[in-house]
Amino acid sequence: MDSGKQITLPLMMSVGAAVIGSLQFGFNTGVINAPQTIIENFINETWFERYNEPITKNTITALWSLAIAIFSVGGILGSFSVGLFVNRFGRRNSMLMANVLAFIAAILMGFSKMASSWEMLIAGRFVVGLYSGLSTGFVPMYVGEVSPTGLRGALGTLHQLGIVVGILIAQVFGMEAVMGNEDLWPLLLSFTFIPALIQCVLLPLCPESPRFLLINKNEENKAKTVLKKLRGTTDVSADMQEMKEESRQMMREKKVTILELFRSPLYRQPLLIAVMLQLSQQLSGINAVFYFSTRIFTKAGVEQPVYATIGAGAVNTAFTVVSLFIVERAGRRSLHLLGLLGMAGSAILMTIALALLEQLKWMSYMSIVAIFAFVAFFEIGPGPIPWFIVAELFSQGPRPSAIAVAGFCNWTANFIVAMSFQYVEELCGPYVFIIFTVLLLIFFIFTYFKVPETKGRTFDDIAAGFRQTAAGGEKHSPEELNSLGADSQL
Ligand code: GLC
Repeated sequence: MDSGKQITLPLMMSVGAAVIGSLQFGFNTGVINAPQTIIENFINETWFERYNEPITKNTITALWSLAIAIFSVGGILGSFSVGLFVNRFGRRNSMLMANVLAFIAAILMGFSKMASSWEMLIAGRFVVGLYSGLSTGFVPMYVGEVSPTGLRGALGTLHQLGIVVGILIAQVFGMEAVMGNEDLWPLLLSFTFIPALIQCVLLPLCPESPRFLLINKNEENKAKTVLKKLRGTTDVSADMQEMKEESRQMMREKKVTILELFRSPLYRQPLLIAVMLQLSQQLSGINAVFYFSTRIFTKAGVEQPVYATIGAGAVNTAFTVVSLFIVERAGRRSLHLLGLLGMAGSAILMTIALALLEQLKWMSYMSIVAIFAFVAFFEIGPGPIPWFIVAELFSQGPRPSAIAVAGFCNWTANFIVAMSFQYVEELCGPYVFIIFTVLLLIFFIFTYFKVPETKGRTFDDIAAGFRQTAAGGEKHSPEELNSLGADSQL
């Protein structure tokens, strides 16, 4: 096997320890759905004890929506703050430090019932949202930077695999017969401390990102030692060479703040692509399924909606594994296109199923098939790819800022879908998925025309491609291009 594809124990261990953060994100995405009624009852009782009057329906809906949505508000803030940590403390230590938030959240949520305080529950959701937002930046960055070029996509997909496994665990444990009941729900929510504990034990045994050591810290020997361990070979000259080239380019780029990222023509193209891919992931409507599937299945006349939901979680996991195995062969671009088109087709199928439900009872089965296909196509491309492709589209200098902006867009779109889906669904009835179909087709067209293939290319090569586009597409003075680090392309 060539060293560009070598899976070594230290590499697996580093990636494995990192994606525990992804698992946390997935778990907290899925955990609060099944026990909804039970937790609402708790809020209701607490309210009565405190104020001696029953809570109104509006207040409970508002509090519940807040408990759900504040997670993504935490996510927005967390993902935007990624840049504050990664260059100062390093990638690995940033991940390690974030666990403080997971522990605080576990305590707040775990003791909320004992303390008769739904405020603690909501605060806990916010804090674990912060943690998750940070994770969606830290994990793909670290994984991208420790992976050999030929495995970056496959290992990057492990971030998404962590997320989907987290969702599935939450769905299964959230069943009433397991832990989603009156006595055990606080324990269920506080389970988030277990992965945090495991990560705190494992991460100190993992190396810091070699790119961070060399490019940000200028510690060449350390970077070399780490690379030798990760690659399982003593000859790491090719990797070192590539990083040095990137480092050389970076010396010319000024430090890239978020503001500069928006201003510089050099980054316009990759930034647009990164943002659009994030939007395509969230506005595909995937979380309409993961937040509201039980409700959707109920409306579609499915008799055991909870099992159909868990089925969706299982299909979700299975197809992420499929993507993991094909992404290095089929490439990012083609899988993303295939996924978007397949999702659009499934959304049309879902619309037909919902529209004909009155006349044809078996349409409820069709709706299950449609949702499963929707989810399967999502995981082929639009699920995993946007997360790791941002790290691929930018070199070391702008990478933290780019990941922060991309994460911010992802979480904001997530929040919008979470907050508005129920209202839009009331308005559009069975035709609600048409909106997603239109959006999916728009993203398909964008991807077709604008997104380059990044499979098998080094970070430096990808950045060089964009420098060429920037140089070719717009007129700049030689000095201007020089200051952007583009002179070598002229
Ligand atoms: C992606 C999305 C997340 C969604 C999940 C579903 O990771 O970012 O919002 O819940 O996929 O598998």
